[in-house]
Amino acid sequence: MVSQIRFLMCAPDHYDVDYVINPWMEGNIHKSSRDRAVEQWNKLYNVIKNHAIVDLVAPEKGWPDMVFSANAGLVLGENVVLSRFLHKERQGEEPHFQHWFEQNGYNVYTLPKDLPFEGAGDALLDREGRWLWAGYGFRSELDSHPYLAKWLDIEVISLRLMDERFYHLDTCFCPLANGYLLYYPGAFDSYSNRVIEMRVAPEKRIAITEADAVNFACNAVNVESIVIMNKASESLKSRLAEVGFQVIETPLTEFLKAGGAAKCLTLRVTEPIGDEIHANASVESRVIRMEGHLLDAGLINRALDLIVEMGGSFQVLKFNLGEQRQSTSAAEVRVSAPSHEVMEEIISQLIDLGAVDLPQDERDSKLEPVIQAGVAPDDFYVSTIYPTEIRVNGEWLKVQNQRMDGAIAISTTANGIVAKCKLLRDLEIGDKVVVDVLGIRTVRKAESREQRNSQEFSFMSSGVSSERRVELVVEQVAWELRKIKDSGGKVVVTAGPVVIHTGGGEHLCRLVREGYVQGLLGGNAIAVHDMEQNILGTSLGVDMKRGVAVRGGHRHHLKVINTVRRFGSIAKAVEAGVVKSGVMYECVKNNIPFSLAGSIRDDGPLPDTQMNLILAQQEYSQIIEGADMILMLSSMLHSIGVGNMTPAGVKMVCVDINPAVVTKLSDRGSIESVGVVTDVGLFLSLLTQQLDKLTSPYIANVG
Ligand code: ARG
Repeated sequence: MVSQIRFLMCAPDHYDVDYVINPWMEGNIHKSSRDRAVEQWNKLYNVIKNHAIVDLVAPEKGWPDMVFSANAGLVLGENVVLSRFLHKERQGEEPHFQHWFEQNGYNVYTLPKDLPFEGAGDALLDREGRWLWAGYGFRSELDSHPYLAKWLDIEVISLRLMDERFYHLDTCFCPLANGYLLYYPGAFDSYSNRVIEMRVAPEKRIAITEADAVNFACNAVNVESIVIMNKASESLKSRLAEVGFQVIETPLTEFLKAGGAAKCLTLRVTEPIGDEIHANASVESRVIRMEGHLLDAGLINRALDLIVEMGGSFQVLKFNLGEQRQSTSAAEVRVSAPSHEVMEEIISQLIDLGAVDLPQDERDSKLEPVIQAGVAPDDFYVSTIYPTEIRVNGEWLKVQNQRMDGAIAISTTANGIVAKCKLLRDLEIGDKVVVDVLGIRTVRKAESREQRNSQEFSFMSSGVSSERRVELVVEQVAWELRKIKDSGGKVVVTAGPVVIHTGGGEHLCRLVREGYVQGLLGGNAIAVHDMEQNILGTSLGVDMKRGVAVRGGHRHHLKVINTVRRFGSIAKAVEAGVVKSGVMYECVKNNIPFSLAGSIRDDGPLPDTQMNLILAQQEYSQIIEGADMILMLSSMLHSIGVGNMTPAGVKMVCVDINPAVVTKLSDRGSIESVGVVTDVGLFLSLLTQQLDKLTSPYIANVG
C-alpha cells in the first residue's frame, strides 16, 4: 500500500566522490562506480515507491553530493528552512533546492549568512510530531536552532555530536513511528545522552552497536512499520521485529563512500504539524567581554576552545587587537549553549579566565538562603582560587577568604555586607549563597608581556620541569626564598616522610634554622621519621648513614612514638632533651608553628597529630594565611589539601619524583605554580647550596 507520505530524491547522474568533507570520503576520491551507484539508487527509489510517493529534483552538474537530498532543507508543513552548507563544496546546491521548494509552493526561510545548518541531515522530527531533534558539533551551528524553533514553531532539542564519523545527526539517530528511537549512543556527548534518555522511555530506545552504526543502520527511512536501510545485523533486525518493525535492506555501498546512505538520499517533504506543539528552544545565549593580553597569553583561544569543548558555540562579535606590544586587546563574544545548565558550566569557567558581562548587562548576583546548616542551595557557585568579586545592590564586593571548592556566602555585619568563601560544612542558616553565574567576576592582573616572560617565576609558564631544568628552578626558588626572607614575608613548607628517607632532613633543618620557613605542614609520618632518625639514627628501621636495615629496627618507629607520647607533646620531648635535633626540633626551638594532620594509617599517633580532620584543615588554613610561597615537598595528600585552601597569587613549588603528582598540583591554571620532578633530598641539597651562594643584598660579601 502506498501512503500519502512524500519523499524528495535526486538522481545520481552527477554523483561522485570529488572531495573530502567527512571521514568516509577519505581515500575514496573517484573510487565509486557510477553504474553501481545508479543501480543502488534505483533500487532504493523503487523500494520507497512501493510504500510512499517520491518526487524528484533535477540533478545539477558540478554538485556531486546533491543526491543527498536530506540536506536540501528541513520541511515542516508548508514551511522549509533552507540549508546553509558549512563547506563551500556543497554551497552551490542551495539555489537549486531553493528553486524546487519555491516551485512546489513551500514557504522558504533562509538563515543569516555564515550560520551553517544542513537541513534534515541534522534535524529530525520526532515521529509523533512532539518536537524536533537537532544536531550540532560538526556541520550545523547551535545558533541555528533558535531560528528553527521560531520559524517552524516547534520545540527544538539540541544534541551534540562527538564522533566525526557521525557528523550529521541522521547518521546516528533515527526517530521511528510510535515514539521509538533507533540510535547510536556513542556518537553523542554525555549531556546529550542524558537529554535523550529523559525524553525517550527505556523501552522505546533501540541503541545499536558500533558495527551496525558504521553500516549506517541509523540512516534509515521509516514509513510506518517499514524501516529501509543499507544493512542491519541479525540481532538488530530481530530487535526491531520484536517491536513491530520490518527491516528492508537495500545495499548502498557506493554512497557510503561519500558518507551517506538511505536516509541521506531522501527528504521527507510531508511532515505533519502537531496541533498542541509550539516553539521552545532551550538554547541560551549571552554576550561576555574579555580584556587583557588575549592573544599573547592565549586567553582567547582557551576561552573559545572551552566553549566548544563544553558543548556550546560562539560568535566573536568584536575583537580589538591592541596595536602596540604593551596594549591589551578586548573581545566581545556571544556564547550559546543548549541549555541553562550547560551555559552555567561554560560561564563559570569563563569567569575564571576573567570574562565579564557587558556594562549594560551587569546584574546583581543571584542569592539563595541556606535552609539547612552545612548544605548549600543546589545551584551554588563553586569558588575558585582567583580573586573574585560579586555584585550586590549594584556594587562590586570583594570576596574574602578566597579559596577553591567553597561557596560564596553573604552576611550582613556591623560593617555592612560581607562576602566570604565558606566551606559547605561552615554554611549557617541565614547565610545567603551565590547561585547561578550572574554578577560574578574574577579580577585578573593583565601582566605585560615583559613581566610575564621575565619575572622570577617565569619558568612557571613551562609548568613542570625535570632534569637539567631542575638546577634552573632551584636557582629561582632560592632567589625567591631570599627575597621573601629579606622582606619579612612568609614561606610555608608541606613535607612528607620522603624528605627524611632521601636525606633531605638536614637541609630542611637549615632552612628552618636560617629563617626561610615560617610554617610547617605534614602528617604523623614526617614527624615520626624525623625524630626516629635523630634519636636512633634510623628511618623506618634503616640506618640512615649506612643505608642498611638495622636488626629489629622496625620497632624503632614505635619506640619513638611511645617516647613522645610519654612526654605528652613534641615540644615537651624537645624541652626534656630527648629530641636533640631534626626538623621538629628546629621548629620547636625557632617557634615555627606546625600542624600534623592525621590519617587512617597513622601509628600511634603522636600526641601532636590532629586526628580530627576538620580541625586539622582549620589548623592548616591558619598556618597558610598570608603565605607568599608554599614549598610542597613529596607529600601528595597534604599538598593537595593545601592547594585547595590557597588563593591564586601565592607561589607554589611542588617537588615530587612522581610526575603525576607534580602535574596534578601545578596544574591550577595559575602561573604562580611550578612543578619539579626530582628527588626531594637532592632538591633540598641543591637549594641550600644555592642559598649559600646568594650574596645578601644588604651585607657585602667580604673575604
Ligand atoms: N558527502 C556528503 C557530505 O559530507 C554526504 C551527506 C550525507 N547526508 C546526510 N544527510 N547525512 O555532506
